[in-house]
Amino acid sequence: MVYKKLGRAIVRSPGASFVAGLTRAKLGLPDYHRALRQHAAYCDALESCGLTLTRLEPDERFPDSTFVEDTAILISSRVSGPGSPCASAAPMAVMTRPGAPSRRGEGQSIAQTLTELGLETAAISTPGTVDGGDICETESHFFIGISERTNELGASQLADLLKSLGYISSFVDIRNLDAILHLKSGLAYLGDNRLVVIEALMTEAVFKGYELLAVENDEAYAANCVRVNDRVLVAAGFPRFERKLTDLGYKTLALEMNEFQKLDGGLSCLSLRF
Ligand code: GLY
Repeated sequence: MVYKKLGRAIVRSPGASFVAGLTRAKLGLPDYHRALRQHAAYCDALESCGLTLTRLEPDERFPDSTFVEDTAILISSRVSGPGSPCASAAPMAVMTRPGAPSRRGEGQSIAQTLTELGLETAAISTPGTVDGGDICETESHFFIGISERTNELGASQLADLLKSLGYISSFVDIRNLDAILHLKSGLAYLGDNRLVVIEALMTEAVFKGYELLAVENDEAYAANCVRVNDRVLVAAGFPRFERKLTDLGYKTLALEMNEFQKLDGGLSCLSLRF
């Protein structure tokens, strides 16, 4: 199996203000204490996959700040090869400019942390907007979702930056897909040239050349799964999708995510991994 080897993740526990986070999910208010327990289990899972965690203190000023993935895009150098994990490093981070004004300050402490960890940073500039949840990286390519959070200017700035670093990217316009907030709400890369895709995205021409693993509509939330070294983190409660993964030989780790789902958040949103 070919996948990118990961060594570290940045996480931030939810603060008490989490319950006031942005949502369009209509699943009710999250339970803060249950969210804390689910977050702790998520961190344990990352550690059990071999990652060293950089744990940031809750930031009460920003209710959505536990969703650290939206604040930065980590661009890794890569050496792929059949039969072995890809060697990877993260020489660069692009600090996003989140589409939701209430989230725009979240990145400051993340940028500082990334710099302390030795990463160079660039930034998306106004009036461009990008949320990290709209960016899906494969070994060779970046898919950039144009959404209610990531606008065309931000997407173009990011594509130009990626090009300057030798990467190619494609845009996926999800503005007419009410079911998903971010591209990665409906798309994940598993390694092995395999994408997990919700049914509404199955016919996107840009995914040609990849093997597509469909997630049925009634399990669509499960599409936001995360390959972490030799495991795939999946949301608990979606047995048909999890079975598809295990049938393909993946080792899954199922995690309760319903308190984060209430704020449109998924497994990928809770960490920055490199
Ligand atoms: N609640 C996560 C977001 O809307 O960005």
